[in-house]
Amino acid sequence: MKKNYICVGVFGGLLLAGAVLNAADGDAKKGKDLFEQNCDVCHNADSTDAKVGPGLKGLFKKENLTSDSDKKVTDTTVMEIINKGSPAGMPAFEDQLSAQQRADVLAYLKTL
Ligand code: HEC
Repeated sequence: MKKNYICVGVFGGLLLAGAVLNAADGDAKKGKDLFEQNCDVCHNADSTDAKVGPGLKGLFKKENLTSDSDKKVTDTTVMEIINKGSPAGMPAFEDQLSAQQRADVLAYLKTL
């Protein structure tokens, strides 16, 4: 019995480590497709001109967010917007995209 617990513990730990690694490790190519399916209606990827939301070209080269000039552009602040959306008209993607898909989109945003 005790042995089983240890097994589950080690295996669970490995799974968890895998999930965390994956989340940090987005695939920008997949992110591009996901962006076109989910974000492109409201965001330009190739310019800073606003559509419904701000144009996202050069997002990670900017110091602060266009939508909240008090916030720096970081993985955390951008992922928060993707997760929670904004009352100003952006839907939340936390339940619509998997953690891996959101990491992929984030990786793609960094290439803009
Ligand atoms: C229905 C329209 C809509 C969709 C779809 C949408 N967004 Fe947005 N997004 C907005 C709006 C509007 C804002 C500005 C929010 C504000 O001013 O608080 C915004 C803001 C942002 C910002 C902050 C940019 C900045 O400089 O402040 C990021 C990053 C972002 N969206 C990424 C995404 C991603 C990635 C997706 C797809 C997974 C997406 N958005 C889908 C409307 C949308």
